[in-house]
Amino acid sequence: MANALKAIYERSLLNFLAPKSGVKMPIATKLILSFLLVIIVTSLVFIAVGVQLIGNRVVAEAQEKVRNDLNAAREIYLSELSEISGVVRFTAGRFFLRDALLSEDIQQATRELLETRLREGLDVFTVTDASGNVLFRSSNPELSGDNQSHIELVRAALDSKETVAGTAIVAAEDLQEESPHLAEQAYFEFIDTAKARFREETQETSGMMLMVAAPIYDYRRNLIGVLYGGNLLNRNFDIVDTTKRTVYKGLKYDGKDIGTATIFQDDVRISTNVKNEDGSRAIGTRVSEEVYDHVVRQGGTWIGRAYVVNSWYITAYEPIRDIHDNIIGILYVGILEQKYLDIKRRTILIFLVIALVGALISLALAYLLSRGISGSISRLASASREVARGNLDARAEVTSNDELQELAESFNAMASALKKRDEQLKAFAQNRIQESERLAMIGQLAAGVAHELNNPLQGIVAYSHLLLEKVSDDDPMRGSLQKIVTQADRSKDIIRGLLDFSRQTKPQKMPSNVSHILLECLSLVEKQPLFHNIKIEKDFVGNLPLISVDPSQIQQVFMNMIINAAEAMQGSGRLTLETRFDPVDNTVDVIFTDTGHGIREEDMPRLFDPFFTTKEVGHGTGLGLAISYGIVRKHRGTIAVESKIGTGTTFIISLPATVEKRIGRA
Ligand SMILES: Nc1ncnc2c1ncn2[C@@H]1O[C@H](COP(=O)(O)OP(=O)(O)O)[C@@H](O)[C@H]1O
Ligand SMILES: [Mg+2]
Repeated sequence: MANALKAIYERSLLNFLAPKSGVKMPIATKLILSFLLVIIVTSLVFIAVGVQLIGNRVVAEAQEKVRNDLNAAREIYLSELSEISGVVRFTAGRFFLRDALLSEDIQQATRELLETRLREGLDVFTVTDASGNVLFRSSNPELSGDNQSHIELVRAALDSKETVAGTAIVAAEDLQEESPHLAEQAYFEFIDTAKARFREETQETSGMMLMVAAPIYDYRRNLIGVLYGGNLLNRNFDIVDTTKRTVYKGLKYDGKDIGTATIFQDDVRISTNVKNEDGSRAIGTRVSEEVYDHVVRQGGTWIGRAYVVNSWYITAYEPIRDIHDNIIGILYVGILEQKYLDIKRRTILIFLVIALVGALISLALAYLLSRGISGSISRLASASREVARGNLDARAEVTSNDELQELAESFNAMASALKKRDEQLKAFAQNRIQESERLAMIGQLAAGVAHELNNPLQGIVAYSHLLLEKVSDDDPMRGSLQKIVTQADRSKDIIRGLLDFSRQTKPQKMPSNVSHILLECLSLVEKQPLFHNIKIEKDFVGNLPLISVDPSQIQQVFMNMIINAAEAMQGSGRLTLETRFDPVDNTVDVIFTDTGHGIREEDMPRLFDPFFTTKEVGHGTGLGLAISYGIVRKHRGTIAVESKIGTGTTFIISLPATVEKRIGRA
């Protein structure tokens, strides 16, 4: 799967970078485009992930805060209750009240009770006897004698003989009895609220009260009455405003309170600092059915964004329970979402700016980098074009300290080597040209001289022989005449050699066995006195192929070699004759190795020149190797020499082994 994706990606990248249209795209553009692609993809992923993370982080932060705020609100709510609890329990334990009950004269306690109620700001502060009949109602002194044991909390205190504190729903009639004013304070007509659950009722007459009932004992700890007190929560903004003040420090955002708190009786806002558009408190409105279901029906804590009255808030709701754990209302706190949206927006904006700046910097770096790379490459390219055009002095200057630099250095080394080779080749060719010009010139000169001298020499030879025949043996002239004949013959030989060399007659080739030719040469020289003390060794390979040569010309070459060797050994030594087949070059090689005096290094270049000889005047013509060279060249062969002064010399004659087919001629 990943591989398939990779393949698709690479293919599309390739298509993108090397379009098939044949449009030439400079390498710098390609590099920049691929960098761009990488930067864009990376930035997009980075931004998508970053924005998502920031969004989630901010929301999580807000939810965490609102959860803590809800805890703070609950603490404030409970501390209010415990304050009432303190007052009620303390008063219930005081002697003046106990004594008044024991003496069945409540009148002596009324003044103290009235004062305490006013001082502590309690809405309700009432004394009953041990059966729940009201003895004194400080909020409504005129009304007494009625039985209040039906009020859950009073009932619980009577039964348990303990102080009971909690939130309670107090019916309208009971409120009415405590004070008509309280009944009025509790009363709400519902205000239409979108999303609220459907209710038959259109009003709320009962009230929700923080209430404490404490038993009153006689001196033997018998129950003689109950003191109960409480504060109506409806339209009482102490708790919600304290929450706003202490938790949110009353901060505003865009003219609205950042933090809000609400107490619901069932689903009705009975105490809140969420404001309507006109700035009044949004009491009488109801909670949405969704929250109601979650918190009241299922008893859960609800945390999330919610539309409250007229703005979006990040909210937390939790149930308010009575002493029997029945859910009777909701405690709510909410933070204006707008603030967090703005934080989120600002953070994302900063993040985007950073990402963008990062992308631009990367792009700039990519540009510089690709310029560096493509610069090196184009320098290399132009240098190689120069070299291709023949300018071997062209060099690529690359100092990038990487493989490109290595490449450039190799390239430069290659160009230097090419240049050196080129110069060597030129020098070599020059030498060869001079050499062949020289040989050609000498050949022409020699041929001219030989031709001119040949005819007069013929005469000298013929007449000197004739004269020698005619003079008698004792003629004093005979000695001189004999010398003339000898020298004339010698001159004739030289002239013939010269003519042979210059004429270089065309070889009459036929399939021949080189070993046979060699043996024939040996049979000619063996009887000569020069060879008497020379040991001849033959090392002939068995099935040597027949090669196409002119046997008499090749014999002349071999004779030259053999005689030269014998002369170099001055009549004693060892001469080795070797034949072999070289399958690589496809040649038949004949190798002459002697143990003679060897050839000096400085003589080597002139060895094959006509008239080059190291022999005394009258002994060598210097034509043997020159003629041999000419013949071997005519046969498309080569002559190689290896020699060491004092040790000996080896001549290797290589002749092509292919038998040439005769075409057209019989
Ligand atoms: N086998 C050899 N050993 C040493 N020197 C040789 C040999 N063959 C030829 N040379 C040298 O090459 C020279 C030229 O030989 P060549 O052309 O046959 O002329 P020449 O034999 O008349 O001197 C000789 O004078 C000799 O110095
Ligand atoms: Mg010779």
